[in-house]
Amino acid sequence: MTSNIESIETVEHDVIVVGAGGAGLRAAIEVSAQGLSVGLVCKSLLGKAHTVMAEGGVAAALANVDQEDGWETHFRDTMNGGKKLNNWRMAQLHAQEAPDRVKELERWGAVFDRTKDGKILQRAFGGHKWKRLCHVGDRTGLEMIRTLQDRGVHQGIKVYMECTITKLLKDGDKIAGALGYYREDGRLILFKTKAVVLASGGVGKIYSITSNSWEYTADGQSLAYEAGAELIDMEFVQFHPTGMVWPPGVRGLLVTEGVRGEGGLLTNNKGERFMFNYLPESTRHEFAADVKEAKEWIDAAIAGQKTTARRPPELSTRDNVARAIYTEVKEGRGSPHGGVFLDISYQDSDRVRKKLPSMYHQFKELADVDITAGPMEVGPTCHYIMGGIKVDADTAQTRVPGIFAAGEVAGGMHGANRLGGNSLSDLVVFGRRAGLGAAEYAKGLKEMPKFKDSDVQAAIEELDAPLNRTEGPNPYDLHKKMNEIMSAYVGIFREASEMKIGVEKVAELKKEIAKVRVGGGKKFNPGWHLCRDLKNLIVAAEAVAVSALSREESRGAHSRLDFPNLEDEKWGHVNSTLSKDGDKMKLEHKPLASMPADLKKLFETK
Ligand code: FUM
Repeated sequence: MTSNIESIETVEHDVIVVGAGGAGLRAAIEVSAQGLSVGLVCKSLLGKAHTVMAEGGVAAALANVDQEDGWETHFRDTMNGGKKLNNWRMAQLHAQEAPDRVKELERWGAVFDRTKDGKILQRAFGGHKWKRLCHVGDRTGLEMIRTLQDRGVHQGIKVYMECTITKLLKDGDKIAGALGYYREDGRLILFKTKAVVLASGGVGKIYSITSNSWEYTADGQSLAYEAGAELIDMEFVQFHPTGMVWPPGVRGLLVTEGVRGEGGLLTNNKGERFMFNYLPESTRHEFAADVKEAKEWIDAAIAGQKTTARRPPELSTRDNVARAIYTEVKEGRGSPHGGVFLDISYQDSDRVRKKLPSMYHQFKELADVDITAGPMEVGPTCHYIMGGIKVDADTAQTRVPGIFAAGEVAGGMHGANRLGGNSLSDLVVFGRRAGLGAAEYAKGLKEMPKFKDSDVQAAIEELDAPLNRTEGPNPYDLHKKMNEIMSAYVGIFREASEMKIGVEKVAELKKEIAKVRVGGGKKFNPGWHLCRDLKNLIVAAEAVAVSALSREESRGAHSRLDFPNLEDEKWGHVNSTLSKDGDKMKLEHKPLASMPADLKKLFETK
């Protein structure tokens, strides 16, 4: 049945931003500041974004606590954390601009915790050489969203809530619009636009245990891929070491790295501080050699004093800590509910409640555990994807004219492993740059590009298809199957024999997803929404699985049991790059841009 396109609600903006987390909001604010009209489209309610799941802080070398810090060290830490697979230019811009973006948030009303002399307080996090994480207790992401939302709303940005974009529409090569629908009743909406900024976040819902909520279904990655953009480094999926493991209903919910930043200690069921056994040889010199030295560091941090003691091994990078916890549990040294113990209860209770208020309430209300009196049980949870849409570092533009991307949906910035706190700074640095890039691009177009009615028609038919089928698999069954496949065959530790099975199973699943059927109508029908989400999720699942199988080395978050070492010569200088080739996903390994000499020099000092 053909739809009457004339009757669809149609709106026009210079720029459309898809996703209203930190990156999307910051991009929209920038477009509006450039005097252009912007529509901010979010799948959920405004303010509900994964940004709030970065709790412990935003990384910026303000040097308020450790005066030795500077952008150069932040850049170096970020590149080392990413095992030098990062887009160096993105890492450079990020380290240089993060302090200004944090100060801007402060000017716009963000209420950061303070040092005794009134500066923004900074705490330690894994992989950051200095105390660099500007924070608001353990609610930093939430405070950032609140601030950006206030700013955006006051600037008059038009927001389309609970609206899912299903297709990007083009005029020849360039972007011309998007089709979306309201989740409430399935009503369609057509956006005419000159530029689109994708800022829809990650892909966590391809795994069973994740800190991501229902919105994170690879929408932006899939929209961009279908429209002709490239995806890079999709094998690099970050498992945050500490998610809740119990009760079952909240398994995977984030336990902020801020707990370890404030001195939280990890132990197994034998009471052993196991992290001392898992430090890679190359970084061992950065960490306390024993419990005594680690305690000295923690005591000094609590007292706000300087120390020559090195930090505890709990503050190794996330990939190491996640692997360590996984291994402890697998080898039978886990906690009763399949995690390990994370304890901060040895500290003064008032301090714990003040520094980690959300964690205190989260555990009290959800698990009936008082974290000031005893340990938490924690285990790895899929939190973030380092890979994503390939963009130009300076403008955030993809290879498709008019499509821009920023935040988690974009790849390159974090290389093979992201440091905690670098996502919040990434959002504001590249959100602003994407907004600016899109505004400049839009200003350069004399007239609004035009998409074809036939493309709209095809997109509507695709969206409605699961409702029109009389038979076919159930979307919830298929989603569960995807979670099981990805968790079993392409999880924290990987090997070819398993990943080959994973790739095959994902290919079979893709065929089933093409036949998915759902009952009911368009009103309040979450099963129908899931049918749409599955189309996006399968792009991410395939991308992660084929990229992971192809990279025959271990690097950052990608850990191969059959290739346990970094293989710099073969793999240290290439991005896994995916593009759409008819019905096939084409995988290539493309060389990284080489780093200029002045930046290379920064790695000569420790
Ligand atoms: O642990 C956390 O608070 C998360 C931070 C992040 O992902 O950057």
